[in-house]
Amino acid sequence: MKKIKIACLGTGGRCRGLVQSTYIHHPGIEFTAFCDNAEGAAVNFASEFNKAYGKSVRAYLSYEELIKHESFDALFIACDPDIQVDYACDAMNRGIHVMTEVPAAYTIEQCRNLVSTVRKTGCKYQLAEQTRYWDFIRQWREMAERGEFGKIIYAEGEYLHYEPVWDNFVHIKTGHRVHSYDPKYYSDPASKPSWRGNTWKNPIYYLPHTLSPLLSITGGRITKVSCLGTRPSGYVSEGLVARDIQTALMYNSNDTIFSVRTGFTSPHGPKAGTYAHWYQVKGTERSVEWARSTADKPKMWTPAEGWTEHDWTLENTEAEDYIRQSGHGGSDWYPIHYFVDAIKNDKTPPMDVYKSVETAAPAILAAESADKGGVMLEIPDFRCE
Ligand SMILES: NC(=O)c1ccc[n+]([C@@H]2O[C@H](COP(=O)([O-])OP(=O)(O)OC[C@H]3O[C@@H](n4cnc5c(N)ncnc54)[C@H](O)[C@@H]3O)[C@@H](O)[C@H]2O)c1
Repeated sequence: MKKIKIACLGTGGRCRGLVQSTYIHHPGIEFTAFCDNAEGAAVNFASEFNKAYGKSVRAYLSYEELIKHESFDALFIACDPDIQVDYACDAMNRGIHVMTEVPAAYTIEQCRNLVSTVRKTGCKYQLAEQTRYWDFIRQWREMAERGEFGKIIYAEGEYLHYEPVWDNFVHIKTGHRVHSYDPKYYSDPASKPSWRGNTWKNPIYYLPHTLSPLLSITGGRITKVSCLGTRPSGYVSEGLVARDIQTALMYNSNDTIFSVRTGFTSPHGPKAGTYAHWYQVKGTERSVEWARSTADKPKMWTPAEGWTEHDWTLENTEAEDYIRQSGHGGSDWYPIHYFVDAIKNDKTPPMDVYKSVETAAPAILAAESADKGGVMLEIPDFRCE
């Protein structure tokens, strides 16, 4: 069958990792071009890729050049997430299918643009959020579909991911990332905060990996949010413009309460398998939770059996090796699989534009709520606008 021609915009760590560890194994796609506006980034990646796989992928320094010189069916966008929507909409307006990386949007206006462009063009759009494909999430979802939770009344999750080497700044002229927490870079005229550095002001923006799996189990959409955070100056790195932790309290259209938190600038103990992610779901008839640390196991509680430990896994143990070995515990395979399937077979991908903005808008308004001292804000219903 004819292969889908894909170009990549933004060849940072995420794109390079996905392409080389996972997407290269997909028989239905063919890479045509890599584009990155940082000096040398796309050329170096294309040359490394071509040498390793005997291909002839071309490299570009700007989206405009990419569009002018290349013809392709689909664009994978993994550049700075706060600017992905403009490129996604422009590409879809040219008839190109698009998959973007998380978070789907940074403003409510971007959410609306994404939705209206997908509706207008009919192009396939998918968010590459992968944690919803973890096998224990699938098992919890199936329990919910079978009614085994009774009524789900509470869902909770966290993503607390400290790295001592986060690239908090970027060199303005070259676009190269500066891996440092030193606030001296704020006053360096040659540097500016990177998208990560900017996101840490309100880390609650980075909610897709928490909301996407939880909403896939509870159903419904978040309708209200209120959020609090610590002071906007790090405790671990004094002077870094970052809230070390933010927690949002949310309510969804199925009468479920959500408590979700994020933080990236202070260290916390890892969880077994999921490292920085943790989840629990409470129903009227059972509760499930992932391991809270590396010293315990995932657990389920029912009135009949009390607490029992479970060997739920991240990867689907029956999947092919190349799927189980894809990144993030075998989950990175599924977004490209479903994106290609949607294009080839004219299907709506599972993480479609509505589900994507329904993970972004609550986070955007959570950040606004935190800036306003925790006021409760209503989330627009993009399906009805
Ligand atoms: N799903 C996941 O588990 C996961 C993991 C890591 C990152 N991500 C997401 O992937 C995306 C990229 O993350 P990353 O870690 O690779 O970040 P990064 O900052 O390392 O890479 C972004 C790249 O985009 C390039 N870029 C920026 N603006 C551009 C433009 N206008 N045109 C072309 N290139 C441009 C930058 O030069 C950089 O090389 C983000 O949305 C991030 O949230 C997702």
